[in-house]
Amino acid sequence: MSTLCKNWTQWLMETRFSALTDEMKKQTMDWLDSVGNAIVNMAQINASDVVLDIGTGTGLLAFKALEAIEKLNGSGKVIFSDKFSDCLDACKGFLENNPTNIKYEFLNASCEDLQLSNNSIDKALMRSVLVHIVDKQPAIDEIYRVLKPGGFFCAFEPIIRSNTRYWELLDPKYISSYYEFKNAEDNIMSNQNDSLCNFDDLTIKNNLSNAGFSNSSTLLHAIESKYVVTREMVIPWFVSPPSPDRPSMKERFLQYFEEAKVDNYIKEIQNYLEGKEITLKTNSVLIHATK
Ligand SMILES: C[S@@+](CC[C@H](N)C(=O)[O-])C[C@H]1O[C@@H](n2cnc3c(N)ncnc32)[C@H](O)[C@@H]1O
Repeated sequence: MSTLCKNWTQWLMETRFSALTDEMKKQTMDWLDSVGNAIVNMAQINASDVVLDIGTGTGLLAFKALEAIEKLNGSGKVIFSDKFSDCLDACKGFLENNPTNIKYEFLNASCEDLQLSNNSIDKALMRSVLVHIVDKQPAIDEIYRVLKPGGFFCAFEPIIRSNTRYWELLDPKYISSYYEFKNAEDNIMSNQNDSLCNFDDLTIKNNLSNAGFSNSSTLLHAIESKYVVTREMVIPWFVSPPSPDRPSMKERFLQYFEEAKVDNYIKEIQNYLEGKEITLKTNSVLIHATK
């Protein structure tokens, strides 16, 4: 397991940006802001709504929901919920320095057991949380349980298994053991026990319908980004963990190969990609479901 990241707050505030230049970091922050706006707009928050942000992290969606209720001069409430208390502490710290008149609460609970009454929430919001839960059905069932009839579940989740793979960026002529690493990466990406890649828009659609949502849409959202690779970018691709408690790509490759072989692969990638422009495809799903 990675020793580079101690908790979710550190991952959200530092680790996830470690392979990015300042310009890429700004683009990512702008993108996160626009995704947050899209989710909150989809939720059509009303003045008296009880809004639940599940896996709030550093509060991307919950703070936007507070603003939405504030604009309506509303009596509604926002619940910041997360399985990990460091995230709630970070949100509390921000609210102490930026007080609001709108009601809010903190809930230390996992998505699979929200510890809320049946039919108590008007809008459940989520971004990039199901991707960290191996068995997504119980989590979606739980969201359905706490929503009021007519309540919305609005979410955005990355579909990692259809993103560009490393081997697609490479030329086998310049990479020793290219095919061995290609096979290993394909195996890693098709592991059904790995929360990061065991789902797509279609499996989510099934989960929603199994939970009882009558009306759901799962819209695939594809982005292509182009940039020129620098030598410094490559190592963080392999050593930054995808979350605080999960192995990095290098650690995953170590389940297949000796460390010297993995290090050599990374070095050859640096040599091959340095100065080249690459195009990365990333897919996500925008979810809207009504109870
Ligand atoms: C990638 S972060 C997303 C944070 C935030 N939603 C955002 O958009 O910035 C994933 C979040 O999910 C939380 N999380 C992970 N597993 C969870 C679970 N089983 N139940 C609730 N929250 C969970 C983590 O603590 C973390 O805050």
